[in-house]
This record gives sequence, C-alpha cells and structure tokens, in this order.
Amino acid sequence: MHPFINIATQAARSASRIMLSFVDRLDELKVSKKGMRDLVSKVDEACEQEIIAQIQKTYPNHNILGEESGLINHDSDYTWVIDPLDGTMNFLHGMPHFCISIAVKKGDTLEAACIYDPLRQELFTAVKGKGARLNDRRIRVSDIKNLSDSLVGTEFSGRDETLFEPQQKIYNQAQSACAEIRLDGTAALALAYVAAGRLDAFWCIYIKEWDIAAGELLVREAGGFTTSLRGGAGIVAGNAKTHQALLDIVKTTI
Ligand code: IPD
Ligand code: CA
Repeated sequence: MHPFINIATQAARSASRIMLSFVDRLDELKVSKKGMRDLVSKVDEACEQEIIAQIQKTYPNHNILGEESGLINHDSDYTWVIDPLDGTMNFLHGMPHFCISIAVKKGDTLEAACIYDPLRQELFTAVKGKGARLNDRRIRVSDIKNLSDSLVGTEFSGRDETLFEPQQKIYNQAQSACAEIRLDGTAALALAYVAAGRLDAFWCIYIKEWDIAAGELLVREAGGFTTSLRGGAGIVAGNAKTHQALLDIVKTTI
C-alpha cells in the first residue's frame, strides 16, 4: 500500500470511531454556525484534530489544509487536504450519508486520495497513475454514453444567495437532459460514487477545495474526467461522454 494511503486510511478509520460514537447521541452535540447555513459541531473539530495528529506522527513537516483549522504551513512541497466530516448537515440530522475525505497534493498536483464512508465501511482510495479502488477492488467510471440515460449528482450551495438562480437554471437544463438527478448532501461521496460508476456524472458550481480534492483524483484514476470551474470553486466530473455533455450545459450558465 502507498504510504500516503496507509496513513490517510489509518487517520480516517481513527476519526470515524469518534464520529460514530456520536451517532446515537446527536442531541448532546453543541452545534455552532460558521456562517449562514454552515454548521460545525465538536465532531467535525475532534475528527479533524485526530486526523491531523495521525498525519503529523509520520509527516510532521507536511502542510495541512483542514476545513476547520485552515492552513498549517511548513513550507513543504506536500499538503494534506482534509474534510473531517463531509455531509455535516446530514450527520447532525441523523441522515446516514456522510464521509471523511483526505487528499495529498505535491505542489498543485493531487497524489493520493482517500474517502471513507464509516457507516457502509466503504473505503475509496486512489494514487496518481495507479488507479482507484473501493476496498480491495479496482473501480472504474460508468461507460454510459448518453446523459439521457444518466443518473447525475449535484450539490447546491445554500449559503451564497447569488448562486441560487444559476444553480436552478443549470438544474432545469440538466433535468431535461438526464435520466435523474441526486442531491445527497456530500460532494466528496458523490465524486467517489462517480469514480465507482454509481453516478454517471456530477456538477457543482460552489464548493471548497477540501470537499472535492480527494474525489477529483478518484474520478480521474477511475478513468474519468474532471473540469474545475470558477477558479476551483466548482467542478464537473464524469466519463468522457457525460463529462463533456454536462460541461456544455453548465457552461451556458456560468
Ligand atoms: C458540504 C457538503 C455539501 C455541499 C456544501 C459543503 P460540509 O460540506 O460537501 O455537499 O453542498 O457546500 O459545504 O459542510 O458538510 O463539510
Ligand atoms: Ca465539506
């Protein structure tokens, strides 16, 4: 196993034990607001601290960019990009759909990715040039040819009201073009599902680096394509056909 995947997996599993210990006592969690419709709980914070501690045991001098702690900068070539709990809103509502996302990049190049769904015990991993896996088996993006047959994922920002209209506009066009659309509350897991061929494509026009870094490498290593939008604040992903067809739709609006 690649050493980055080894450490990322250990860190994700360790953080997941903290996360799962709260699943049955959500009422005890103190939730605060980072911003409009942007919640954070002590689970997010404790999981991020655990992941950082695990990484630093082996790589004390690597940079770390975490959703909750921001950038820990050691001027290293390597940066670990962490979303300790993607799908916080789902988690806090007792919806069983969330994950941990960890990516490693060298400069701007994604080198390794790990997305862990602790409830289903599904571990999605990818190493640059070495393919993508779900637990022990290789995964590939779907080979669907047409958007009209495609199950397509998206995520909406509830926070930036200037995006409500363009999001709706793209949704309406995509709805006419695709078989069905899913909006499940975790962009990271949606991208892992594109890599595994469960979703045929994904788009999002508002997102942060930690939501999509690992998912982006997973899709590419699973034979798919990704295009970054709005200077990294959005993404389109899919196989060769669905990626292009969805990109054409999204680009007419943004
Ligand atoms: C959120 C999820 C969601 C996306 C939001 C993100 P969080 O991350 O990725 O899919 O729509 O914009 O903030 O807050 O659960 O880590
Ligand atoms: Ca997130």
